[in-house]
Amino acid sequence: MTADETVQRPPAERPPTGRPTAGRPLTNGALAIQVTGLTNQFGRQVVHENLDFSVRPGEIMGLVGGSGTGKSVLLRTIIGLNRPKTGRIMVLGQEMRGLERREVRDLQSRWGVLFQDGALFSSLTVLQNIEVPLKRQTKLPAQLRREIAAVKIALSGLPPDAAHKLPSQLSGGMRKRAGLARALALDPDILFLDEPTAGLDPIGASQFDQLLLSLSRALGLTVVMVTHDLDSLYTVCDRVSVLLDKRVTVGTIEELSAMDNAWLKDYFGGPRGRAAAASQERTEQG
Ligand SMILES: Nc1ncnc2c1ncn2[C@@H]1O[C@H](COP(=O)(O)OP(=O)(O)OP(=O)(O)O)[C@@H](O)[C@H]1O
Ligand SMILES: [Mg+2]
Repeated sequence: MTADETVQRPPAERPPTGRPTAGRPLTNGALAIQVTGLTNQFGRQVVHENLDFSVRPGEIMGLVGGSGTGKSVLLRTIIGLNRPKTGRIMVLGQEMRGLERREVRDLQSRWGVLFQDGALFSSLTVLQNIEVPLKRQTKLPAQLRREIAAVKIALSGLPPDAAHKLPSQLSGGMRKRAGLARALALDPDILFLDEPTAGLDPIGASQFDQLLLSLSRALGLTVVMVTHDLDSLYTVCDRVSVLLDKRVTVGTIEELSAMDNAWLKDYFGGPRGRAAAASQERTEQG
């Protein structure tokens, strides 16, 4: 067993009643995200081929897959930063393609993104970072912007004095929280998180998971979270989408573990998968 495998997260508290299955109402029971027939290709490399992917409103969807299988590209495609070769992408009942510029901006303001590399502006304080989307998407006066940013800082579990620090003056865990606060700036319906707990120690990662669970419940958020962190998958995700062979296979962890696929068996049934499952069981029993 490697040192990595022996590091166990402290048990996280899963709410006894589970999560609500629906967040903010969407018109006529529409899916929060519906991707159909998506193909992404870079030169001769086909990353996604005729892929379907959907997320229900209020759901926390995990997104996993080996490195380079196209998790980040899928997120970037859904939020309109990558133009696919083919496919239809509906978010919150709207297809971005064909919308007017103002409508695109309105739709963009309904999701928040925490990118894989954090991507805070290094020369801006935490407060100023959170103000960026507010400046870009609203005409709110400066004082109100600052007040909203301060609320998001508190919501993300950062101490008030973090507001005036630069990203370089924060710990890794605090930077993740600052990124989350910025993603929440516009009161989004959907949160996209690309490896939010990567690089955090087990306690910091577990705290981030708990924060995400409580925020998603309190705000009725739909969450799509790319992660390699098995503990996070067990603790926070309702279902998991796996990128396999250029497409998505979706299910609960239980369903995915039972599938006859070598990658899934290795992933969920390997030493780290078993440790995460055992830790989750202990939490549920305790
Ligand atoms: N703009 C681009 N131009 C060319 N190739 C790209 C581009 N973006 C991504 N790729 C390629 O697409 C593939 C999928 O990349 P992606 O970043 O989505 O992987 P990932 O699943 O997020 O991996 P990781 O777990 O390492 O973050 C990779 O082979 C990558 O090199
Ligand atoms: Mg990635």
